[in-house]
Amino acid sequence: MTITERLVDSFGRVHTNLRICVTDRCNIRCFYCMPYEGVRFKPRRELLTFEEIERFVRVAARLGVTKLRITGGEPLVRSELPRLIAKLAAVPGIEDLAMTTNGMLLTQQAAALQQAGLQRLNISLDAMREETFERIARRRGLDQVLAGLAAARRQGFCRIRLNTVAIRGLTEEEIVPLATFALQHDLELRFIEFMPLDGERGWQKDLVLPGDEIRAHLEAEFGRLTPAERPDPSQPAVDYRLSNGGRIGLINPVSQPFCSDCNRLRITAEGQVRNCLFSTVEWDARAILRGGGSDDDVAALVRACVGAKKPGHGIDEPGFLRPQRAMFQIGG
Ligand code: 5AD
Ligand code: SF4
Repeated sequence: MTITERLVDSFGRVHTNLRICVTDRCNIRCFYCMPYEGVRFKPRRELLTFEEIERFVRVAARLGVTKLRITGGEPLVRSELPRLIAKLAAVPGIEDLAMTTNGMLLTQQAAALQQAGLQRLNISLDAMREETFERIARRRGLDQVLAGLAAARRQGFCRIRLNTVAIRGLTEEEIVPLATFALQHDLELRFIEFMPLDGERGWQKDLVLPGDEIRAHLEAEFGRLTPAERPDPSQPAVDYRLSNGGRIGLINPVSQPFCSDCNRLRITAEGQVRNCLFSTVEWDARAILRGGGSDDDVAALVRACVGAKKPGHGIDEPGFLRPQRAMFQIGG
């Protein structure tokens, strides 16, 4: 396949990574992402069809995108998702196909996802105790997540990663149990600082549990963390090794922004292209896909979006404005 023109922004960042949100729906209600009630989900006709997503991805691949991640909402509540996975796995140029899921539906779906060509899974796991899980997710479900994780492992998914959103006042007590669990099951664990993208707009700086504090908690229990090699400079996590062999990543978007290495683009479930989690502007790919536009029109739109990317999210700057969308409407 020939790459027509790479997606380089005005700061020299080459975009090779596309995150595809396939639904805004979810079967739990994590407070850092979604409102508890009153959510108006997008009607089905507004979502891109699998055929439209595939076409968009073919164009993106022509522009040098090699990595895809399927997100939501919860991607596994979108019906027939393996059918989309199979389509995307077949697009020339796509080398890595991953998904971020809350794991609740993996028991039923792990086999079909793997057969369709899904390569990697990130599973969100914020707590090892049901009580904390429920305070965050506002529904029960820890056992179901753990069963889903076990099913994915039995299915042979390798390099499964666990993602934990770190919240001051909730996560401290979970750090060591999560790290111990990850170690026992040979899973990589990543702590992510809480970002101002929650649906109820309750984010405050003092709810962020910074990566440095998490590190101190881990060191108090497991001894010194040593920095691990960094295979991909654009990866947001700083990885460490524990003296007992475990591997932990810290993703510190708030305390140590990594925007200068960002290579990510996003498309929402309704086909709006975004150059940042915190974008306040979007580029309407659906209008082109449904309006008789050509692949070149789609490519021009993606280039325009990348060309307009700002240097960083500016959470700490005085004029910072939260995007209208919350996490479940963007796709993590
Ligand atoms: N801040 C940080 N991470 C978040 N996620 C969802 N909302 C937030 C937030 N406000 C994470 C989830 C999931 C991924 C999709 O993004 O844990 O792993
Ligand atoms: Fe659902 Fe994921 Fe949002 Fe939690 S973070 S409410 S699991 S979409």
